[in-house]
Amino acid sequence: MGEVETLEGAAVARIGAAEDLAALEALRVEYLGKQGSISGLLKTLGSMSPEERETEGPKIHALREKVQAALTARKDVLESAALDARLAAETLDLSLPAPDAPKGSVHPVSQVMDELAEIFADMGFAVATGPEIEDDWYNFTALNMPESHPARAMHDTFYFPDTAPQGGRMLLRTHTSPVQVRTMKAGGAPVRIIAPGRVYRSDSDATHTPMFHQVEGLVIDKGIHLGHLKWTLETFLKAFFERDDIVLRLRPSYFPFTEPSVEVDVGFAIENGPDGKGRRVLGGSGDEPGHGWMELLGSGMVNRKVIEMSGLDPDQWQGFAFGVGVDRLAMLKYGMDDLRAFFDGDVRWLKHYGFSAFDQPTLSAGVGARA
Ligand code: DAH
Repeated sequence: MGEVETLEGAAVARIGAAEDLAALEALRVEYLGKQGSISGLLKTLGSMSPEERETEGPKIHALREKVQAALTARKDVLESAALDARLAAETLDLSLPAPDAPKGSVHPVSQVMDELAEIFADMGFAVATGPEIEDDWYNFTALNMPESHPARAMHDTFYFPDTAPQGGRMLLRTHTSPVQVRTMKAGGAPVRIIAPGRVYRSDSDATHTPMFHQVEGLVIDKGIHLGHLKWTLETFLKAFFERDDIVLRLRPSYFPFTEPSVEVDVGFAIENGPDGKGRRVLGGSGDEPGHGWMELLGSGMVNRKVIEMSGLDPDQWQGFAFGVGVDRLAMLKYGMDDLRAFFDGDVRWLKHYGFSAFDQPTLSAGVGARA
């Protein structure tokens, strides 16, 4: 057996026995590296006679190819073994036990929004939405608050540095009222919608957070008057608080987007709580002894300028609007006293005040059922 055959037998055997990729690489260098033995054999071709080269040349090239093939084959085997080992080591045990009961809960704000949608759907209202990033035309101008209007300053607005497409300023909406304008512009009249959602103002204490929730109501039709407004609010609040003795007081007020404007107060009684402290319980006239009035929401007949800026003829279409804090409704109904806790994400609070996902508010089962 010549040198080439001896080398081939040894190389193929050693490569086949290489235990890991590092040992295999060492063998590759030993045979095929610059100083390797096969490379050395190839170099001898230059000093051979032409006849010798003719017989030896193909043998040495064949040897190099066989060794290369053996290296590649072994590498595949070692790599797939390494992958199998890694897959075995890194498996996830999907048989870990699930928690006994679902851990999450529905946030009171979500629950109250669902309650509102349910109550108003029964009165024929659809749910409308609008963008939280608004421009100052929808948030202010179209609601009869032109550039210099003092109410703009009262809103503690978060402005963006960007300019709106129409040239105004971009901002985080300070109220849900711009949805009134968007709804009328997009769909014309008649309109019967509520628009719940997030609003933003630069303000923070126990009853104010930089982000909070409002629900807007809008009715536009022919011959709508304040009586319709009062009936709608009374029907809504009786259903929401689940009491028939809710009494409202409409007080003259001012909002740029309504004329006339009314602030709505609701009567409450002071009752002793379990801790012996007096607490306010909604119901009854605020004028009775031991009772009082609590300011609840803003509303009024939609200003004809707003109807006009929304693309409708105010001589033909009239309506009413209202706006109320959703968080405030939740606090009154479910008894929380600090608004900031709504947004802290404290699991103890969420567990205490949260709702089961199965506790869907329905008018037939009750919009306020607790799990
Ligand atoms: N947009 C008012 C606010 O955020 C609330 C409001 C008052 C809305 C009267 C209305 C309304 O639609 O008629 O303070």
